[in-house]
Amino acid sequence: MTLRARIVGTGSALPKNRVSNDELAKRVDTSDEWIVARTGIRFRHIAGDGETTASLATEACRKALDTAKIAATDVDLIVLATATPDQTFPASATKVQAALGIDDCIAFDVAAVCSGFLYALSVADSMIRSGSARTALVVGAETFSRILDWEDRTTCVLFGDGAGAVVLRAEEGDSGILATALHADGRHNGLLYVDGGPSTTGTVGKVRMKGSEVFRHAVTNLASVMNEVLDRANVVTSDVDWVVPHQANARILDATARKLGLPAEKVIVTVDQHANTSAASVPLALDLAVRDGRIKAGDLVVLEAMGGGFTWGACVARI
Ligand code: COA
Repeated sequence: MTLRARIVGTGSALPKNRVSNDELAKRVDTSDEWIVARTGIRFRHIAGDGETTASLATEACRKALDTAKIAATDVDLIVLATATPDQTFPASATKVQAALGIDDCIAFDVAAVCSGFLYALSVADSMIRSGSARTALVVGAETFSRILDWEDRTTCVLFGDGAGAVVLRAEEGDSGILATALHADGRHNGLLYVDGGPSTTGTVGKVRMKGSEVFRHAVTNLASVMNEVLDRANVVTSDVDWVVPHQANARILDATARKLGLPAEKVIVTVDQHANTSAASVPLALDLAVRDGRIKAGDLVVLEAMGGGFTWGACVARI
């Protein structure tokens, strides 16, 4: 029997305030028609006072632990993916740990922007298979609204806030994470970045992006890493029950699915409701599809994401 990291629970959290494209059009020179046609986005949730990356992450973790029927004190590893931590340090993972009442476990953040959840999942998977942990919370959580330039219509309409979490448990058997693949290419730092930071400007900075160039790289890299991870898991496209992609743009989802020969009905889409929630988007979409009954025990699921850096990655899991 093989020891694997099995996804035994999922959870998610969204800020209370839901903002439509029409509401955004009152703040910047844009329109519902433009945003829907170019991105598929209709709504996003925006964090209000008291809603932070760590508070959303904690709510998502609590729900994931509830569905897994696992006590917080059983958790021995928390990996939190975010580009918008509550503070420069300590790691938001330790804030989640404290809020969950866990006195001692491994807890750290991972920074790979929109691919952060895939990076965090892969690290937790390795730690579980090597015996360093048995029960892990893997979280993607963001409050991107706080690093958006609300005067820049080319970026501010695209992002939203939220959190998603999974509980991983070490189990012998055929279910669980079958393969992961991760990549980065720092030559493209300048296409999607934040123009600030503790060691440069001493400010937090705002998101800057060359959207059309990001789009082109995204489709190529995502199709390639999905083929790679399917090969590693020794499965083919037709074996896949569901793809849970990073939710950046409906046109990227369509183009990637077409390139892989995947029917659109197998792709979980939430970008219309949540916009791009960066590291939160994959676990948020996964949780919704598990809760509404589309993704069931035994299904073969592919997760994928691409983000600033560039970083990109994919994972094949039997649920
Ligand atoms: N409302 C109205 N018009 C807008 C607009 C907005 N919110 N944002 C840009 N425009 C305008 C531009 O100013 C431009 O006008 P011009 O032709 O007069 O100069 C026009 O729309 C086309 O802009 P362009 O950037 O070429 O559009 P696009 O078809 O490439 O779509 C994105 C823009 C951002 C939606 C698209 O490039 C994209 O989704 N890229 C990937 C982004 C992404 O996924 N990033 C995260 C990865 S993790």
